[in-house]
Amino acid sequence: MKDYNKIIRENSTMESNRLILRPFSMKDVQDVFLYASDDIVTKYLTWPSHIDISQTEKVVKEFYMTKSGVFAIELKSEHKCIGCIELRVCPEHDKASFGYVLNREYWNKGYMTEALKLILDFAFSRLGLNRIEATHYVGNEGSGRVMQKCGMKYEGKGLQEVKIKGIFHDVVHYAILREDWINSY
Ligand SMILES: CC(C)(COP(=O)(O)OP(=O)(O)OC[C@H]1O[C@@H](n2cnc3c(N)ncnc32)[C@H](O)[C@@H]1OP(=O)(O)O)[C@@H](O)C(=O)NCCC(=O)NCCS
Repeated sequence: MKDYNKIIRENSTMESNRLILRPFSMKDVQDVFLYASDDIVTKYLTWPSHIDISQTEKVVKEFYMTKSGVFAIELKSEHKCIGCIELRVCPEHDKASFGYVLNREYWNKGYMTEALKLILDFAFSRLGLNRIEATHYVGNEGSGRVMQKCGMKYEGKGLQEVKIKGIFHDVVHYAILREDWINSY
């Protein structure tokens, strides 16, 4: 089986017009705390807002800096980490899913669409995957819009599919296949 983690390690930095995707470092803790402590940002995420920066230090050290496929989103013009995007490879099925989060100050400027396009290109061209899938909760339509803008297709909705923070959520499913990604060029 392909060593996906090795390929990810060898391509740990990617660049687009306005962004750099790169590994996290402890220097990013303050920037991460800015979005991780924002209740509006974490509303549709599985984890609760950080209350103390020591929580962020622990997450950056034990998760962001160690787990394969986790990228800091750096805004070139400000040399600032404005978010995170994570590619989660499922080697058994030659597919992956992803998650993303962005500092609220930078929403609706096309940044996550730009970051996701880099990740999709990497996943299909370098990792050679067959399918990339993702979900968002009903109510978080901006996230679905990012997926649409990157060529992902709506696959359906699971009613009350998950219970997060005590609330049942309907879950919207999106995916893009390798053949559709190739045809989009
Ligand atoms: C979801 C998120 C990553 C989007 O990042 P972003 O950089 O603002 O996304 P983009 O600017 O690339 O695109 C957002 C699109 O959603 C649209 N949008 C925003 N809010 C919307 C809403 N309530 N309903 C419909 N569309 C909406 C924007 O208009 C834009 O589309 P457009 O370019 O066609 O106008 C960001 O809002 C975020 O971090 N949210 C909190 C964390 C989160 O929910 N993560 C995803 C979990 S599934």
